[in-house]
Amino acid sequence: MAILVNEEKKLFTLNTKSTTYQMKVIDYGYLAHLYYGKRLDGDMSYVITHYDRGFSGNPNDAGEDRTFSMDNIPQEYSCYGNGDYRTPAFNMKDIEGVHGADLRYVSYEVLNEKYSLKGLPAAYTEGEKGETLKIVLMDDVNGVQVTLLYGVIEDKDVITRAAIVKNVSDADVFITKAASTSLDFVSGDYDIIHFHGRHAMERMFEREEITHGVKKIGSIRGTSSHQHSPFVMLADRAANEDHGDCYGISLLYSGSFNCEVEKDQTDQIRLNMGIQDEMFEYVLYPGSEFVTPEVAMVYSADGFADMTHKMHDLVRYNICRGEYKTKRRPVLINSWEAVYFDFDGDDIVNIAKKASELGVEMLVLDDGWFGVRNDDRSGLGDWFVNEDKMGGSMADVVKRVNDLGMKFGIWIEPEMISEKSRLFEEHPDFAFRIPGRKPVMSRSQLNLDFSRKEVVDCILEQMFKVFDQINVEYIKMDMNRSIANVYSITEGIQNNGTILYKYVLGVYDFMDRLQARYPKLFIEGCSGGGGRFDAGMMYYTPQIWCSDNTDAICRLDIQYGTSFGYPISVVGSHVSAVPNHQTGRITPFNTRAVVAMAGSFGYELDLNKVSDEEKEEVKTQIAAYKKYWDLMHNGLYYRLTDADKSKKIAAWSFVSRDKAETLVNIVTVDSFCNSPVPFVRVKGLDADATYVDEATGAEYSGQGLDQIGLPVPLKFGEYNAYQIHLVRK
Ligand code: DGJ
Repeated sequence: MAILVNEEKKLFTLNTKSTTYQMKVIDYGYLAHLYYGKRLDGDMSYVITHYDRGFSGNPNDAGEDRTFSMDNIPQEYSCYGNGDYRTPAFNMKDIEGVHGADLRYVSYEVLNEKYSLKGLPAAYTEGEKGETLKIVLMDDVNGVQVTLLYGVIEDKDVITRAAIVKNVSDADVFITKAASTSLDFVSGDYDIIHFHGRHAMERMFEREEITHGVKKIGSIRGTSSHQHSPFVMLADRAANEDHGDCYGISLLYSGSFNCEVEKDQTDQIRLNMGIQDEMFEYVLYPGSEFVTPEVAMVYSADGFADMTHKMHDLVRYNICRGEYKTKRRPVLINSWEAVYFDFDGDDIVNIAKKASELGVEMLVLDDGWFGVRNDDRSGLGDWFVNEDKMGGSMADVVKRVNDLGMKFGIWIEPEMISEKSRLFEEHPDFAFRIPGRKPVMSRSQLNLDFSRKEVVDCILEQMFKVFDQINVEYIKMDMNRSIANVYSITEGIQNNGTILYKYVLGVYDFMDRLQARYPKLFIEGCSGGGGRFDAGMMYYTPQIWCSDNTDAICRLDIQYGTSFGYPISVVGSHVSAVPNHQTGRITPFNTRAVVAMAGSFGYELDLNKVSDEEKEEVKTQIAAYKKYWDLMHNGLYYRLTDADKSKKIAAWSFVSRDKAETLVNIVTVDSFCNSPVPFVRVKGLDADATYVDEATGAEYSGQGLDQIGLPVPLKFGEYNAYQIHLVRK
């Protein structure tokens, strides 16, 4: 049993293979958090200490005891208004606008399976054990019940959390904050590691000491965003890749989110993570429920690499779904950077033809095939094939592509509408617009109101008409603006605070129904690259276009940051043309391929336009990808260098779980004359074994590779890349 309940002590312990999470009902029915970390036995109640802290309120039940304050007690689900002045996990308003809650323990239940969440993504188990602990808390005055859900996937060292808030009163109430998780630490010196960024430069690693006050990251853009990632780490100040305590915390949600860490007056730390509370106000009618998104948490005592392995396994095997969850993805060629909007059916077939001759397996037709869409100013919402532009039917193009022995994939952007479109003429109310205001524009488009089922239905029906006619095996689902002008004609202005949450549910519903209609379809996510790159999305799209930046050197940083919380298998990554379309940089063809192979591999250029030598290289690259894909996608990923560019090289590796082989990848990011030889320490191997470089026959001891490392070849030229396959002798 992973979940242990001591009824007498009201002590709840969640054990995974190497971690323990513990909580307890203390005086007056409060649910206190005791411990989360390395696996241990015993009762950790002693961590709660009571002192009279000035200006820290006491519950009335405590009488004259001024040492009992919620301001000081580590809690499972803290509330505003019961004497705790730290940033709360939960807050609400009653019908008269009075803020606050006071949640007390009512009951518990243990289930022999991991819970799921209605309408929202949640980690699942398949052929392995999962368990659930439900703890019910209640605010008797407001008539609000909160059920805390804890999922335990013992073998994966994963604990998940979510909460369900139910209005059991006979008046409306308003939830103004409902985090998915709240973690209180009574001691410890921690850093917060988070991943900030911008369009075409997502998930940059940043590590900061947690100091007094509140540090808040998140998104109010309606999507998880390019600017911040809903995956964060909490790490002991001394922790690094190989050693030390660290926690990985990943929110399975694709909308606005909030993560805050606070160091309080007595140096305790709280981390809350969940849906964004700014502009959020969820109306809960009598009898109705609000379900928070899920958070998945892992802990490692052995540094970032081990934490990453646990998180990767969770996302790869317990969040991603579908046929391609672990299967090799077809090597694809995407039309976007090859022709942008300027193509007809023959152009697309010509790109496919050359690509198929070189071994590419799927053609993806990107933006521009529907409505009137010759640039990004019109056509969104009109999901019918532009046969004039294509020079014939889509079925014909697909057939010609299929006849080359290639699969066919297509791009969509279902959540958008152009003012210049038939849909806008017919249904202007489908767009988010605030009455009386001119809408904020972005890429000349507006967001569709996906909180309304009839809007989702209308887009799906149009797409079904197209896809029912063709053999489409892959869809790239894009989303190219942040949400603004939030107003829904069904919700009305007084319920505005619920819309963005319902919007996200609408997007999930769209993907569920699309997948249900075409069960074999493989959906890749995208939001201007990695603007909605989160574990929630991965439940529907096991691959996401990682960034609109295809420059191999920029991708080193983007894929480095991405790697902490997300596995290689979800990272869409392509070889593109040089000079690179985003940066103008010229990198060798081989380097672009080595970097793109740290993801789901493909091309994003017209292979008719590369040299004969490069055409031959394409064949070699695809052969390498096919040879190593299993090692790359299902093996253990190690970062061998950090974000510090002064080291002049970037390196990473994939190691098979039995340690029999590793693929070491190295890119030089700077060049010198008469350079010192850099060495890359190779991790995760069998120290007692000898490894042989498959290409050269050179032999290395496992210990040597760990202690000194591999010498990086010194080769003339900029941005060289190496892939070294070492096999145990
Ligand atoms: C943004 C995507 O990230 C690109 O790859 C491309 O699909 C464009 N949108 C098309 O408009």
